[in-house]
Amino acid sequence: MADLGELSEKLAGIKQEITVELTKLDNSKAVFEYRKSIMDSKTGKIGSLMREMGKIPNELKSEYGKKVNEIRGWATAEFDALEVKFKEQEMQRRYESEKIDVTLPSKKLTRGNLHPTTQVRNQIVDIFGSMGFAIYEGNEIEKDYYNFTALNIPQDHPARDMQDTFYLSPEFLLRTQTSSGQIHVMEAQQPPIKIISPGKVFRSDDDATHSPMFSQMEGLVVDKGITLCDLQGMLDVFVQKIFGEDTKTRLRPSYFPFTEPSVEVDVSCFQCKGCGCKLCKGTGWIEVLGAGVVNNTVLEGCGIDSNVYSGLAFGIGIERIAMLKYGINNIKLLFESDLRVLDQIDD
Ligand code: DAH
Repeated sequence: MADLGELSEKLAGIKQEITVELTKLDNSKAVFEYRKSIMDSKTGKIGSLMREMGKIPNELKSEYGKKVNEIRGWATAEFDALEVKFKEQEMQRRYESEKIDVTLPSKKLTRGNLHPTTQVRNQIVDIFGSMGFAIYEGNEIEKDYYNFTALNIPQDHPARDMQDTFYLSPEFLLRTQTSSGQIHVMEAQQPPIKIISPGKVFRSDDDATHSPMFSQMEGLVVDKGITLCDLQGMLDVFVQKIFGEDTKTRLRPSYFPFTEPSVEVDVSCFQCKGCGCKLCKGTGWIEVLGAGVVNNTVLEGCGIDSNVYSGLAFGIGIERIAMLKYGINNIKLLFESDLRVLDQIDD
């Protein structure tokens, strides 16, 4: 290319072509691609112009460079402007399509709750925890010795018939009562002792109020001068927190081999307030747990001097408390995981 006139004509042609092409583009990506093709230093209509410099006579080189820069500046401004315009439009379209209506009602989230048995267990743990009881977790598989013999229920003792036992071998069984934990604690530790022991127990028993697996909470206090009064005082706090401030306890004589004296603890009916209703079978009282003063034979068997120390013990059926508290008349409902039942109980 020898003269600038020819160059000007060529540049005008390029300008014209670009102007027309730009009117055909309709999005920023197309502008980007087109710009790349025009500005490519080897093949681009504008990008390759500088490569021609070699063919230009020296005296025209500066004028040539100026004109090339001019068209490069013009094209860049055109591309930039169009790209900005399209990008704005594209952003606008995205805003429109992704618009969220924050006033729409949200999907309802369903929240689970703890199982009623767990709720009651936690409440009982909290109540006795606040009275300074520590937690001892016993074993579900237990030696006959801990479940029976050490609790003053020797082989062939009729009290063994009170609890239908799942034996795993002549020596091992599934514990029938959390009372077995008492022995482990007293063997391991000298008084003062103040523990509760929640856990599963197992009996071959199955009807509306009994299940082959259920939960108990054992309580054991051993110290100097512990009496039945301490037992009733603690149980009063317990029943008032579980069933209501005005609930009273009543102790009735009973029999458990590991306590002497033994008592059955009743609470005043929290439904009819003692007047007599279906729940309390017209008596005004409901039986809730077994308890007593720890039998000296049991203390001595664990190496605790019964001349110095005395103890109290109690055993709470957790499902029984849950059934009374929430008005559940069949223990099966606590084992069937029916959400229609479980959803209603959230303390
Ligand atoms: N272990 C007894 C049972 O399962 C309940 C019980 C009664 C526990 C009296 C005690 C107690 O600690 O003193 O039937």
